[in-house]
Amino acid sequence: MSLDVTALRESFDLVVTRAPDLTRRFYALLFERYPQVIGLFGRSTDRQEQMLTRALVAVMDRLDDGVWLGETLGALGAKHIDYGVTEEMYPWVGDALIATLAEVAGDTWSPRVAKAWEEAYAAMAELMIEGARRAAAPSPGESTLTPSPPV
Ligand code: HEM
Repeated sequence: MSLDVTALRESFDLVVTRAPDLTRRFYALLFERYPQVIGLFGRSTDRQEQMLTRALVAVMDRLDDGVWLGETLGALGAKHIDYGVTEEMYPWVGDALIATLAEVAGDTWSPRVAKAWEEAYAAMAELMIEGARRAAAPSPGESTLTPSPPV
């Protein structure tokens, strides 16, 4: 995976400077386009808003650290199973995220930046989905907390 790190960092810095409440806009768009996910989120999205921003900033800082990305996003994906998140929902979140970034970036948005974000989100989603799949189906011999009942 070779991401366009320069385009990602520059556009993200610009967007965060222009719209510090970026994630608030993201949720508004997500809930407008995919109201079926509203029920998954707690009553207040404030905590989640801060964490999503922090997660994005953390990922921006570690774009070239494949091991960190794999471990962190894999574990985050596994946690998302407990939130009721399914694989089909990942493109929905990507759509809302990229639409938000494009809206805030305005005329600085370009095909290069759009492509960089689509690839970065797809890579992040893939690592999270892989982590979720591993958690849902432990490999043979791997210890589990709840042993299967005897047959
Ligand atoms: C690359 C994709 C994603 C990233 C980076 C991401 C990031 C996060 C982070 C950092 C949290 C905070 C809680 C924690 O640390 O476990 C969180 C929670 C959550 N995420 Fe995601 N997420 C992604 C995709 C999704 C998708 C596709 C959905 C489906 C709608 C989703 C729904 C949720 C929900 C429901 C919570 C819990 C919120 C609450 O407690 O109210 N996420 N996510």
